[in-house]
Amino acid sequence: MSRFSGLTSFVLAAALVALLPGCHGSSVGVDDPGGEKVASLTLPPGPTPGALAAFQDTFYTYARANCAECHATLQTPLFAADSLSAAFTASLPYADLINPGNSELVSYAMNGHCGEASCSDSTNALGAVQAWSSQASFIAFQNTFYPYALAKCSACHGVVGIPLFAASDPSSAFQVASSLSGLGDPTSSLLVTYAGNGHCATTACQDDADALSAVQAWASQLASGD
Ligand code: HEC
Ligand code: HEC
Repeated sequence: MSRFSGLTSFVLAAALVALLPGCHGSSVGVDDPGGEKVASLTLPPGPTPGALAAFQDTFYTYARANCAECHATLQTPLFAADSLSAAFTASLPYADLINPGNSELVSYAMNGHCGEASCSDSTNALGAVQAWSSQASFIAFQNTFYPYALAKCSACHGVVGIPLFAASDPSSAFQVASSLSGLGDPTSSLLVTYAGNGHCATTACQDDADALSAVQAWASQLASGD
């Protein structure tokens, strides 16, 4: 077991750091010993810079190229508005980031409603919402299930040849965790089931409550695009 102890303290520290980005939208006291910022800082509510960047790289780029003629200024919803954050807010109700194929942003891209070629094929719209979902899910994963998995499951799922959803590289951990996560129905997620089924023969796998909260938080952060 001793070969895990250095890793364990490392991952616990990483888990604490990873929890911090979840604090946006609230008032935080900034106490910086370096003296750079000492005042109390209230972060604005709404999407984080990371959430906006995920949207901008993906669906926003698609919408600006294909839908802006109408949905930038003339026709609500203004999901292709000049303002990135306004477009983000307008897009969200029409996006299903857990099941991208169910998004109205996708179905409308092929239903012919605009009388133009850009509304006759949803392949690129689907790809764009899937890419948005995947980037947003990675952010949400790092704020929610990943710190839990590093703390509880990494002794095995971080280092040996079983699903490495708690690997020290967050992006490879994310790929593996995504395939097991069942975000559409966290109560039947494999990650949650296994956290409570005793399979690892330690207390780490005898209680699924924290795993369920972590997967639910992941799903709800993803659904909010954040
Ligand atoms: C030529 C103008 C035009 C273009 C281009 C256009 N739309 Fe639309 N869109 C409309 C109009 C008009 C409506 C409202 C009437 C309707 O729902 O069909 C609408 C409605 C919508 C709605 C439904 C909003 C609601 O309230 O339910 C969605 C979603 C949508 N468009 C997506 C898209 C997407 C995605 C694109 C780009 C691939 C696009 N539109 C391109 C004119 C356009
Ligand atoms: C002591 C080592 C150990 C720990 C700690 C551990 N696991 Fe496992 N886990 C295993 C082994 C070994 C397997 C493969 C055999 C099996 O399925 O039981 C496995 C399999 C799984 C699977 C099935 C993967 C698949 O592809 O079907 C899931 C999900 C899982 N574990 C989740 C967890 C979660 C969540 C935690 C933390 C709460 C955890 N495990 C902690 C050893 C561990």
